[in-house]
Amino acid sequence: MVLLITRQVPEAVAARAEREFSTRALDMQGKFDAAVLLANLGGVDAILCTPADRFDAGLIGQLPQTVRVIGTFSVGLEHIDLAAAQARGIAICNTPDVLSVATAELALTLMLMAARRAGEGERLLRAGKWTGLTPTFHLGTGVAGKVLGILGMGRIGRELAEMARGLRMRIHYRNRTRLDSLLEAGAIHHDDDASFLAACDFLSINVPGGPATRHWLNAERISLLRPGAIVVNTGRGTTVDDAALTAALRSRHVAAAGLDVFSDEPAIDPGYLALENVVLLPHIGSATVEARNAMGFLALDGIAAVLGTGQSVI
Ligand code: DGY
Repeated sequence: MVLLITRQVPEAVAARAEREFSTRALDMQGKFDAAVLLANLGGVDAILCTPADRFDAGLIGQLPQTVRVIGTFSVGLEHIDLAAAQARGIAICNTPDVLSVATAELALTLMLMAARRAGEGERLLRAGKWTGLTPTFHLGTGVAGKVLGILGMGRIGRELAEMARGLRMRIHYRNRTRLDSLLEAGAIHHDDDASFLAACDFLSINVPGGPATRHWLNAERISLLRPGAIVVNTGRGTTVDDAALTAALRSRHVAAAGLDVFSDEPAIDPGYLALENVVLLPHIGSATVEARNAMGFLALDGIAAVLGTGQSVI
């Protein structure tokens, strides 16, 4: 079976792919090039892609009939038109669960960095502007005893909650449905945005992208946050209205933000670049060796199961 891989994958994943398939590696960099993909699809049974590769209805319509499955190196599926794939009988497999710990760790990193102004402090030091310690120098905010509001209490949200409890934070959450008490583990559920946002000292966004969550964090909802709240986003950039968040960061209604995902990544809204009170990371939520290997293996399991070449079943 022929597997086309759009971008460079970890060595262990590439090695396994080569053992199990006849592989064609495109090693695309930067912007996804649909024409290059299409030119290389002759005889291909399966594609292993990434969230940076846009499989819209137009592209899916042009895939050769031989393509039976697309595996994506992500839990997110926003970059694939699922209805178009279904209409063509192409199976889709993604990589849930195995990246939850890594992504929660990064949300925690951003939260602490934003709270303690870590990015700003490092920039100051590297610029040779540190003149020494005074009791009022570079004051941040502590997290112990504060409320962490988690939007989206799925696998990543729940991992984050568990980690944050270790920091003695109090967990509130907003989710499509209330969790059972075992999964809730004492977290306070809110069934409306207003009470949820008013409770948050920290807000972590852990929902998928797509039309249902587009610009969920808009000016109106930001105004409902406690003044001085800190916002973290490791879900999808499209969930945040950048104009509204940058305005709130400028006015300090939102004291700081930590962002790993952006609406038009890798482009960044220039409004963020001008602000000291925002920590910006290049979509590295799942970028640990452990998570990326596990994601690659899971995607290969899914592809093999669809093609009937492997032992595992999805
Ligand atoms: C995902 O899996 O959707 C991440 O955002 C990419 O690692």
